[in-house]
Amino acid sequence: MLLALESSCDETAAAICNADGELLASAIASQIEIHRPFGGVVPEVASRNHILHVKPLVEQVLAEAGLKLVDMQAFAATTGPGLVSSLLIGTSMAKALSVAENKPFLAMNHMEGHLLSPFMAGNGPPRACVALIVSGGHTMLLHMQGVGEYRLLGKTRDDAAGEAFDKIAKMIGLPYPGGPEIDKLAAQGRPDAYSFPRSFLDGQSLEFSFSGLKTAVLYELPKLDLTQPQVLADVCASVQEAILEVLVEKLVLATKQCGEKLVAVSGGVSCNRGLRAKLSARCEKEGLTLLLARPELCTDNAGMIAYAAMQRFQLGQTSPLEADVDPNLSLVV
Ligand code: KG4
Ligand code: ZN
Repeated sequence: MLLALESSCDETAAAICNADGELLASAIASQIEIHRPFGGVVPEVASRNHILHVKPLVEQVLAEAGLKLVDMQAFAATTGPGLVSSLLIGTSMAKALSVAENKPFLAMNHMEGHLLSPFMAGNGPPRACVALIVSGGHTMLLHMQGVGEYRLLGKTRDDAAGEAFDKIAKMIGLPYPGGPEIDKLAAQGRPDAYSFPRSFLDGQSLEFSFSGLKTAVLYELPKLDLTQPQVLADVCASVQEAILEVLVEKLVLATKQCGEKLVAVSGGVSCNRGLRAKLSARCEKEGLTLLLARPELCTDNAGMIAYAAMQRFQLGQTSPLEADVDPNLSLVV
């Protein structure tokens, strides 16, 4: 059994995972409501709230699993990438628990948590695939051979997909975080109502760019009456379609370039209902097997960190207590 903490951004989370990679307990203290008035995450506020929540969350997951600290074989925490003052809270707590219980510590990469999350809940073990990670801070295509063997195929040159959702949502007056809001409204809109640009770069490129879309929406704004619900829904559906089409087509292109038939899609944006539907249809057409995490494991949580840490622990890997937080920690060397 292993206990993991996640505090890289605005969610404080704790989870316990067993040797089979099953989650015995998982809890999240969300700060979305606290940051909403600011239209984004305020690092100092996030850090203070992590301090308030981290100990009660550890107690909560232990109680939920009916276990004690002494039952844990290791303690893990996200050490990057993320907000440094936030990362420090979960990391310090996990290190303190390691010292107190005299058990190993594992320093985990948040993006590896996302990457491996589609293999949870019976889809494991993690194995060769093309992976697409679409979160608030990252958009990456990877060729994965196994745990720790990741090759970067392409990433975004500017905004991440989640960031594009959030920034465009803000421009059209939707609350933070904008991704789920656009998802909701898009269901009532027409995806072909507005033709926003799709940035494919050159035909074979696996890199992404979403800043042009943001600019295109900005130029369209003065012509739109967003007080009309149908106009707003149509804009949401058209923006979403422009983002999703690029994500899905580049993923399919990557499988062809790598000769893989398995795809794993993760990160907060992989909750998006339009993306999930489009991926299923396109993967079926291409004869690809699609792995998606359950929606509650797509956005930030400690379950995915516990699962990834268990994979590493079973390979005999642990980290020194000196392992520091790194806001820019990379998944690929
Ligand atoms: O993975 P995540 O929880 O945090 C990061 O590591 O960044 O991803 C958060 C991002 C935000 O940009 C949020 O707007 C987006 O995921 N997101 C969505 C949806 N749910 C969350 N984007 C589109 N549709 C959704 N349903
Ligand atoms: Zn994340």
